[in-house]
Amino acid sequence: MRVVSGIQPTGNLHLGNYLGAIRNWVAMQDEAAANGGQCLFFLADLHAISQPHDPAALGEATRDMVAALVACGIDPARSILFNQAQVPAHAELQWLLNGTARMGWLNRMTQWKDKAGKNREGASVALFTYPVLQAADVLLYQATHVPVGEDQKQHLELARDIAQKFNNDFAAPDAPVFTLPDPLIPPEAARIMSLRDGSAKMSKSDPSDMSRINLTDDADTIIQKVRKAKTDPEPLPVDAAGLDGRPEAANLVGIYAAIADSSVAAVLAEHGGSGFGAFKPALGELLAHHLSPISARYCDLRADREALDAILARGAAQARELAAPTLDATYRALGLVRG
Ligand code: TYM
Repeated sequence: MRVVSGIQPTGNLHLGNYLGAIRNWVAMQDEAAANGGQCLFFLADLHAISQPHDPAALGEATRDMVAALVACGIDPARSILFNQAQVPAHAELQWLLNGTARMGWLNRMTQWKDKAGKNREGASVALFTYPVLQAADVLLYQATHVPVGEDQKQHLELARDIAQKFNNDFAAPDAPVFTLPDPLIPPEAARIMSLRDGSAKMSKSDPSDMSRINLTDDADTIIQKVRKAKTDPEPLPVDAAGLDGRPEAANLVGIYAAIADSSVAAVLAEHGGSGFGAFKPALGELLAHHLSPISARYCDLRADREALDAILARGAAQARELAAPTLDATYRALGLVRG
């Protein structure tokens, strides 16, 4: 079992990242330890330059994100935690895979369409080839499992297509170069939505801070954001079918179920019939209770910049070593002469 996943170090770690992905990373870390497996988690700083960014802020945002991941339970002694920029094999493998990825495949990526919008001519080449770098990120380590939220499923399918085509085109049938990775998407909370709009996902790039709960928000802020969350005037239904056509209500109930390690049905069995006037304070308290130890740990960790840099340096050295054999095999399979 080889678990690999990444997160962009832009903006705050928010509840969507936490429930959709990071909580699963921590669970996989325990599972891998029990099975003799290995986990690699990284800050996707090379991905962050695919859109306009502030160079002065990127380094600090990278350190913010390391502190946040450790505060959530990623243990750098058990998992390899690093940033892509210190492991050149990611960018190298991306170039080698650019020969295998097809323009048509990338043109179909919904994130490319969403992020480029109407301005495709003005979007960076990096934004277009971003999913090939993401494929390189996981194929480089022969990942078997990739814990992500629902929005990354299509990128993972592309990574499998690239691996399959490369193996077919350049490897003997009994000696594939790449393992086909499986996405791991949580059953509840695969897609946490904005608190202001139940049809948009909770995101770091939403200009309104009220749309998301950051893992660094204090208890009062969390309670206030939940109180102000958009809802409808109806009381909560008694079963999941009653949430159809009520995206904001469905989102809040889904968040409650995920954070309480429960199910939507169980939450509705308890709270069905209540109005939001009663449900929102209960949800706010639950979130504040769950997140406040994380935010306290984050503040401690973030204060020690040298310790964070040391975590990244050590993780990168381990990652470089693990990446080398697959990178070599890829060069060899393509017939490239390297002295
Ligand atoms: P990023 O940085 O946008 O998000 C990190 C993780 O959080 C999940 N996520 C969500 N889950 C549920 N609800 C939401 N509202 C929500 N918002 C974000 C994402 O699915 C993701 O798992 N391209 C990736 C980073 C990446 C990567 C990789 C991931 C680069 N290389 C290789 C896996 C494997 C991204 O931008 O995630």
